[in-house]
Amino acid sequence: MFRLPVFSVLLMVCLSACNPTPEDDRPGQPVKHRQEAFKVILRASEPIGLMLGDDKFDAENFARLAARLSEVRDGPWAYYGADTNYPPSKSRDEVWSQPDKFAVERQRFQNATDTLRAATTRDAAQTAYNELRASCKACHNGFRR
Ligand code: HEC
Repeated sequence: MFRLPVFSVLLMVCLSACNPTPEDDRPGQPVKHRQEAFKVILRASEPIGLMLGDDKFDAENFARLAARLSEVRDGPWAYYGADTNYPPSKSRDEVWSQPDKFAVERQRFQNATDTLRAATTRDAAQTAYNELRASCKACHNGFRR
């Protein structure tokens, strides 16, 4: 009964001090906001993948999900200010040193969401979804740590 509290205190100290991903403590928390916006994109795209994976294509539901993804796709970009390259960011320096290449990846992703939204058949939706996932991956390979 003596050791448990000591351990708990150590654990609490470590949770705050040893946490490898620090909180975004800058005004406006741009890094935190863009990371949350990427999570929103992930959450918007996952149900589409599930629908296609389960082979339960439903055109009406699909259209609703694709529209939702289009709504949230631009979320992260406004939080990429010039002075936002600091922990806990997982963005690579190349976001700022190669802005043209980053813009190309953004455009590929935007085009993929457009194509997805235009799809009305299961096959077209699957092809567009594959390209969407490829666009996430391509950008992450070059621009995310
Ligand atoms: C144009 C580039 C680009 C595209 C396109 C892109 N991402 Fe990312 N993503 C990034 C970068 C850069 C980060 C790192 C953000 C940071 O920490 O500053 C990131 C981070 C994330 C994160 C982690 C957020 C966190 O909490 O650390 C998730 C999840 C994510 N992206 C999902 C996706 C998905 C899903 C797609 C496609 C549907 C996608 N991304 C498309 C560049 C991109």
